[in-house]
Amino acid sequence: SQEYTIAVLPGDGIGPEVIAEAIKVMRVVETRLGLKLNLNEQPVGGAGYEASGKPLPDDTLKAAKSADAVLLGAVGGPKWEAIDFSLRPERALLGLRSELGLFANLRPAKVFRALTEASSLKPEVVEGLDVLVVRELTGGIYFGEPRGVETLPDGERRGINTLVYTESEIVRIAEVAFDVALKRNKKVCSVDKANVLEATGLWREVVTDLHKKKYSAVELSHMYVDNAAMQLVRNPKQFDVIVTTNMFGDILSDEASMLTGSIGMLPSASLGGKTAMYEPIHGSAPDIAGQDMANPLATILSVGMMFKYSLDREDVNTVLENVVESILDAGYRTKDIMSKGMKEVGCKAMGDLVVQALEKKL
Ligand code: NAD
Ligand code: IPM
Ligand code: MN
Repeated sequence: SQEYTIAVLPGDGIGPEVIAEAIKVMRVVETRLGLKLNLNEQPVGGAGYEASGKPLPDDTLKAAKSADAVLLGAVGGPKWEAIDFSLRPERALLGLRSELGLFANLRPAKVFRALTEASSLKPEVVEGLDVLVVRELTGGIYFGEPRGVETLPDGERRGINTLVYTESEIVRIAEVAFDVALKRNKKVCSVDKANVLEATGLWREVVTDLHKKKYSAVELSHMYVDNAAMQLVRNPKQFDVIVTTNMFGDILSDEASMLTGSIGMLPSASLGGKTAMYEPIHGSAPDIAGQDMANPLATILSVGMMFKYSLDREDVNTVLENVVESILDAGYRTKDIMSKGMKEVGCKAMGDLVVQALEKKL
């Protein structure tokens, strides 16, 4: 039988809670498909810091690099907010992304039929919505040099971050966006701030050239990020694929998640290197951690993306999406997507519902 090693990094806050449900789901898939999944669980983020003094312990990085795929929960929390930047839980995520070469982050925002009413927007605005944010993940202001806080001669401190993009970094993320658009509705909107920032002026130029040379079958448009943030809530269905920088993609994907009803619904795949990583787009949600309240569906749908992109089983992703749809159709909701007349369930019970439905469908 086929054997895969998955590095499982639960992390902090609700990370371990949603990962526990994802593991249950993976075990069902393993049994039904006759696979062998070696789950190599390792601490990361605050948990990594507590275990070894570093948010990304050497063994964790080693496990990630040698795995067929990485599944991550979430990192961070109030406990580690006061420590040095270089030791913060969030550094582990950035370290994993850059060490694994994961420059392309796919964040699909799909509105499940039953959740049309759960969005804070009018049902007709979001009904049937299917947008994909392609976020650049290993460059831009997150990684640019110089960075840091320096003290000026007069004693005043100055904080510095730098927005940098090279042509090749822009080309490779734009190629991902165009290629994926060819398999969808063939529309790419490139989001930048080319009216103010030179680095994104170059971004727009390079995306335009690449489009001319290689992707005339795709319809390309450009939008400034402030307008894009507005258009996403005004008329999100105008978008198919959005390609954008690291920070703009971070912000716009959280915004897009609310169109689907909750940030607890959005999975992601980080691609580009030998080993890909899968994670929900949400954080460690300290406000609800430890209360069996988190929505595990973003993480479970991330498992689906893992089967699609790393384990060559797109069919598993399709089945998982259908299973989630059927559970929502049946009226089950975690608190974040709860509405009147629906049946509220906790994180574990939602995971159990997925397991039960999956056992019937696989
Ligand atoms: P967050 O995404 O953790 O939470 C924002 C809000 O959404 C909270 O009210 C939370 O309860 C809710 N929420 C998030 N995920 C949910 C889920 N699955 N089900 C139900 N509700 C959910 O963002 P934040 O509060 O800004 O950050 C908290 C911590 O997480 C910080 O330390 C931050 O750095 C970290 N963070 C980590 C990641 C990651 O690991 N990928 C992403 C974002 C933030
Ligand atoms: C995300 C998170 C991370 C990011 C943080 C925690 C480093 O917000 O994955 O969206 O900004 O990329
Ligand atoms: Mn984010």
